[in-house]
Amino acid sequence: MAERVRVDTLSADWQELLAAATAARAAAYVPYSRFAVGAAVRTGDGRIFSGANIENAAYGLTACAERVAIWKAVSEGHQDLAALALVTETGSSPCGSCRQVMGEFARELPVLIADTAGNAWLTSLAELLPLSFSAQDLDDAR
Ligand code: THU
Repeated sequence: MAERVRVDTLSADWQELLAAATAARAAAYVPYSRFAVGAAVRTGDGRIFSGANIENAAYGLTACAERVAIWKAVSEGHQDLAALALVTETGSSPCGSCRQVMGEFARELPVLIADTAGNAWLTSLAELLPLSFSAQDLDDAR
């Protein structure tokens, strides 16, 4: 189960990642939903990439904050994700599509979900996306 924590008790690494997600959230382009999301990933070599959600008048083209952050990391040559932080007003969970994309680039991924009032929940991709489909399933069929 996700562990509820106060942001001010988190490790310096988590606080730094969450600060990056919070800063990114300020750039969310959300004229339709007004629901701003910020995300940040730490890569295996310690670098941080952040992203915000970017909506479109053709609603289906909207990009979630988590995927923007992950795509920035991967497109800069950093495919190994070590941790992800996410912040929304209410501390909501990542969508299913983003969970699947996280799984493409991480075996184990600690995930921190935070709200804007200083509450956070520590969880993991394994908890968020059990029994997931992965490259292993393709290999198993060969
Ligand atoms: N959104 C994210 O950025 N991440 C999620 O995990 C859930 C949803 C965005 C998409 C859209 O811009 C807004 O939140 C409302 O769905």
